[in-house]
Amino acid sequence: MSEPTAERASGGVRTTVRGAGAALALAWQTGWYLPVTHGLLVLIQAAVPVVIAWQTKLILDLLVTGDSTGTLLSLGLGLAAAGVVAALAPFAVQYITAETARRVGLLSQDRLFAAAERFAGLSRFENPAFLDRLRLAQQSGGDSPSQVVAAVFSLAGGVVTIVGFLGSLLVISPWMALFVLAAAVPALAVELRLSRARAAMMWRIGPVERREFFFRDLLSNVQAAKELRLFGVGPYLRDRMYRERVESNAQRRRMDQRELTSQTLLGILSATIAGGGLVWAVLAAVQGRLTPGDLTLFVAAVSGVQNALVQLVREVAMAHHQLLMFDHYLKVVGSEADLTVPERPRDVPALRRGIEFRGVWFRYSPEHPWTLRDVNLVIPHGGSLGLVGRNGAGKSTLVKLLCRMYDPERGAVLWDGVDLRDMDPAELRRRIGAVFQDYMEYDLTAAENIGLAR
Ligand SMILES: Nc1ncnc2c1ncn2[C@@H]1O[C@H](COP(=O)(O)OP(=O)(O)OP(=O)(O)O)[C@@H](O)[C@H]1O
Ligand SMILES: [Mg+2]
Repeated sequence: MSEPTAERASGGVRTTVRGAGAALALAWQTGWYLPVTHGLLVLIQAAVPVVIAWQTKLILDLLVTGDSTGTLLSLGLGLAAAGVVAALAPFAVQYITAETARRVGLLSQDRLFAAAERFAGLSRFENPAFLDRLRLAQQSGGDSPSQVVAAVFSLAGGVVTIVGFLGSLLVISPWMALFVLAAAVPALAVELRLSRARAAMMWRIGPVERREFFFRDLLSNVQAAKELRLFGVGPYLRDRMYRERVESNAQRRRMDQRELTSQTLLGILSATIAGGGLVWAVLAAVQGRLTPGDLTLFVAAVSGVQNALVQLVREVAMAHHQLLMFDHYLKVVGSEADLTVPERPRDVPALRRGIEFRGVWFRYSPEHPWTLRDVNLVIPHGGSLGLVGRNGAGKSTLVKLLCRMYDPERGAVLWDGVDLRDMDPAELRRRIGAVFQDYMEYDLTAAENIGLAR
């Protein structure tokens, strides 16, 4: 549990860019047309409010000057068309987002487990930090990439809306553009702070929620069920699960309350600023410095830019959280093989002479004591050998080394004189059969259980 939790809740810029690039690449590999359509739709969706605001302005201005009914009619039709696009685009985006999530989820899960299979030995699966990361990678591999992709697109959309409105206002009055931008600053500042606090909160409750999952898993596990019933420890574990949930609820509640307060104050502030701007604009319109069309465009721009900025910050925060999760996935997929396999491995012919352990030293990690110290042993071909020793003497370890689940730290295991390290572990294992004391029962059919091994 230690490694990921020790990482800071704020990923570096490089991690962010690398993660976003990898997520987009994953989406692209599931078929280019989905991301392209998604991007186009989002851009259209983002441009629609600006287009509608412009059309309304032009219509109002034409109504005031009272000429060209034909232009008015086509503007009205345009407005209706924009309305249809605005109404339908979200459904299409929703479908595409879900389809992208399905495809990316399938691909990333397959890659994750392909990467886990690449580890030919056992050491990775006995390392708690790695297991923790693998679990996080499993959780994030399904959702994070597609959510990052969706966030990147809505970010682009937000920028289009904001630039569109500000550009429109610049045409009418640079002062108005400046005002609208200034009105959005408090919202931006508050949302940024809130999102950072939320990310930190999510990071804090991560371990709490993982403990809750652990107890939940234990309480619904057949193997644990025997003991839980025999020893009557169910209520104790349920209470521990309950308390973890209460703890994470409390943290989430505190965050929600903080959000509620900030956003209420922010709403009042934004409305006041927008109202002040409106009063100014109405006065300017009365004095003839602004047309009624300018006025509507201004009103639409104030709320449009404020909303788009708030949305933008939320997307950034969400994407940031997802990227931190996705980074675990990238680390697992990108991690090096645990056992070195030579580029041109030696063949593994059927055993003829025998197996030899030559000066073998082995420990499970540098923190563990030596399990095997300078073991020298020859097992001739065609013979049988029984190994007898105390519990924990290292008998199973010896067999695991023979299957090359690990490599010795010093010395070598030889197959007819060839070091196991010069062979491909998969080829070697074709020549070996073993039933371990902690053997597996697969929850599959009897036929499959028999057919899984040779
Ligand atoms: N994955 C592991 N990580 C760390 N230590 C391990 C691991 N597996 C075994 N050990 C330790 O290595 C030593 C040798 O274990 P091993 O399982 O080889 O003993 P054994 O002779 O097979 O015992 P038994 O008679 O109980 O089967 C023991 O001290 C054990 O605790
Ligand atoms: Mg054993």
